Amino acid sequence: MKTETTIQGLTASLNPARATRKTIGFIPTMGNLHQGHLNLVREARQLCDVVVVSIFVNPTQFGPNEDFDNYPRTLEQDSNLLAEVGCDIVFAPSVEQMYGKYPRLTNISVSEITNDLCGLQRPGHFDGVALVVTKLFNIVQPNFAFFGQKDYQQLAVIKQMVRDLSIPIEVIGVPIARAEDGLALSSRNGYLTEQDRQTAPVIFKALKTAEQNLHSGQVLSDTLGQIRASLTDAGLIVDYVEVRNPMLQKVDQFDQDVVLFVAAKLGKTRLIDNLQVKRPA
Ligand code: PAF
Repeated sequence: MKTETTIQGLTASLNPARATRKTIGFIPTMGNLHQGHLNLVREARQLCDVVVVSIFVNPTQFGPNEDFDNYPRTLEQDSNLLAEVGCDIVFAPSVEQMYGKYPRLTNISVSEITNDLCGLQRPGHFDGVALVVTKLFNIVQPNFAFFGQKDYQQLAVIKQMVRDLSIPIEVIGVPIARAEDGLALSSRNGYLTEQDRQTAPVIFKALKTAEQNLHSGQVLSDTLGQIRASLTDAGLIVDYVEVRNPMLQKVDQFDQDVVLFVAAKLGKTRLIDNLQVKRPA
């Protein structure tokens, strides 16, 4: 496995693959990798000839009061994990390499679906994600790009952007990786205290109960209320409990496939999760 820290170095490493029309699979990450990321790499490994993973803590997607400076940077540990699952190239650029020393005057902004759910609490966050992902797509020029469904809204934003801008990359969403007790894997889980870690699976339990209730004919608004109550009873501070269709449009009845979304604070840690619920045929 090679590590490249410059765009020039990465291009040189990828040119032979490009010249021989090998398929390139790409997983953008901010590092501090867990099994969820490694599943994305495994998926890419099955589908592509060459697998590239970027590790870059992107400053433009962090708000002024967010944890950019403290975000864990664990390149050596991440590289060992990536080598084990068959990554070919790690791209780990500096902020200067990605954003250069000249002022940046171009923004990438996906409207509507970014002003909802997590976008409401984190203004500008998805613009930062769209910007860095566009840059990384242009640098790596992959055939396929892999994103986790845990960040469902992020995946929807990237898919929308790729469609709108005719970016010639197939975006693949990979199912959420969960711990045995159902907690969605996330770099943020590392911030949970031991006691909060015991409580955290209540989110997935509430989502699974909601799925059953919907299939038994419960009214959507009651289902959302029940999720909210389960989380509050367990001591979480709910940011939102929402339902959307798979394209992130609002729905008020369970007459189509839906996605249930939760964001809640447990102690100091903000957790998100979602569950896709199929409308029974
Ligand atoms: O999901 C993430 O880790 C980041 O938002 C991404 C896609 C790597 C962009 O910085």
